[in-house]
Amino acid sequence: MKTIELKSKMLKCSYDELTADQRALVDIAKEQTNNSYSPYSNFRVGAALRLSDGTIVRGSNQENAAYPSGLCAERTALFAAGAVYPDLPVVSLAIACNANGQFTKVPGSPCGACRQVMTETEHRYGGKMEVILYGEDEIYVFESAKDLLPLIFVSENLEG
Ligand code: THU
Repeated sequence: MKTIELKSKMLKCSYDELTADQRALVDIAKEQTNNSYSPYSNFRVGAALRLSDGTIVRGSNQENAAYPSGLCAERTALFAAGAVYPDLPVVSLAIACNANGQFTKVPGSPCGACRQVMTETEHRYGGKMEVILYGEDEIYVFESAKDLLPLIFVSENLEG
């Protein structure tokens, strides 16, 4: 028997330390919280992603009275990108959360299902997809979605 450590890394930084492209994406993710439909949780999540040709796709959480029928912000954006631009890799994804009218101080943590979809997206296009989690006090930047979900289930697992 042997203990194996699974490592992942992220960069913790401030808004000023982001690149201009990263700041632009974060700004859109923040703006997108206004388009959240979240009457049940009052937790407004915005997402924005950049495709390899520079196109920006937006998302926000969409809730439903039948709770499981709703969808997280990240997945609305990732599925919209896949549906409309299937041939363009997603290079960067930013997420911002607003609770009771205030952006969260610490970044919101994407749920497991969103992490699975993020890593599938990355795997699908073969490159890395950066993930930026916005918080008022600190921002986390993951160079690769895989860092949010070590030991991910991918298509190769289906082959046994
Ligand atoms: N939510 C997201 O949009 N993204 C996440 O990664 C976590 C949770 C949404 C789902 C639901 O509408 C609300 O936040 C409260 O869970």
